[in-house]
Amino acid sequence: MIDIIEVCNNSASAKIALQGAHVFHYARKDEKPLLWLSEVSDFKEGKAIRGGVPICWPAFGMNNPNLPQHGFARTSMFKHVSTKDLDANTTEVILILKHSQETLTLWPYKFELELKVIVSDKLTMELSTKNIDDKTFKITQALHTYFGVSHISDAKIKGLDKKPYLDALTNEHLTQNGDIFFEEEVDRVYQEVNSEILLRDKDRTISIKNEGSSSVVVWNPWIEKGKRMSAMKDEAYNDFVCIESANAFEDFVEIKPNNSHTLKAVIA
Ligand code: BG6
Repeated sequence: MIDIIEVCNNSASAKIALQGAHVFHYARKDEKPLLWLSEVSDFKEGKAIRGGVPICWPAFGMNNPNLPQHGFARTSMFKHVSTKDLDANTTEVILILKHSQETLTLWPYKFELELKVIVSDKLTMELSTKNIDDKTFKITQALHTYFGVSHISDAKIKGLDKKPYLDALTNEHLTQNGDIFFEEEVDRVYQEVNSEILLRDKDRTISIKNEGSSSVVVWNPWIEKGKRMSAMKDEAYNDFVCIESANAFEDFVEIKPNNSHTLKAVIA
């Protein structure tokens, strides 16, 4: 088992695992959860939770061959810095990960990675990377959010029309035409994204606003890949859509010594 921080205030509740600073539950009061969590997810040390908001860091995908897929942050133990009620409706939780012998062998830079989570009628996540090394480093990253949907066939994403994207399944560079629907496997990195994205479902609309990033990954594994995914039931692809607030591929971030960068996502 892994340690968990539970937050409950007048407007919402949330659960955050110390491993990976992984927000795996968020629900507004009297509403159904916003985040999808696999029924069969492992809550074991060293295994990423399937669902919620995994932090992909310091590399998104297989961007750095020395690192595991999506980097090491999602399986690293963060330190709980503080939990503060800012008012009766708003709670702030801060978690931090610092470099260690283990991270330095995988990735040779000294860093401080902080996640600030603000739980209110919105879920706000701020992921700040501080370079405390004497060398400049580059990162790619994502807040890899799994949104629960009533059924994948009811889900539609608005706000990415006319945006260029890389289709990770074919390696083609294409341009989005209209809204995004799900009728097959989708694995795309949208670029030049600088405005709100909406996830429309049968009975609710979720808004996603990102800062400090211009790439958004849209992913659903569909049937065949869904069967191959770890910690996930075969039919579970019907129940979620990932819309990931990212700095991926050309949208990497270069951070000089003593400088920091913040990736922020506000989900409402
Ligand atoms: C997405 C990638 O971000 O994460 C997909 O675009 C990948 O290609 C998915 O399958 C899940 O990755 P993982 O490592 O959590 O199984």
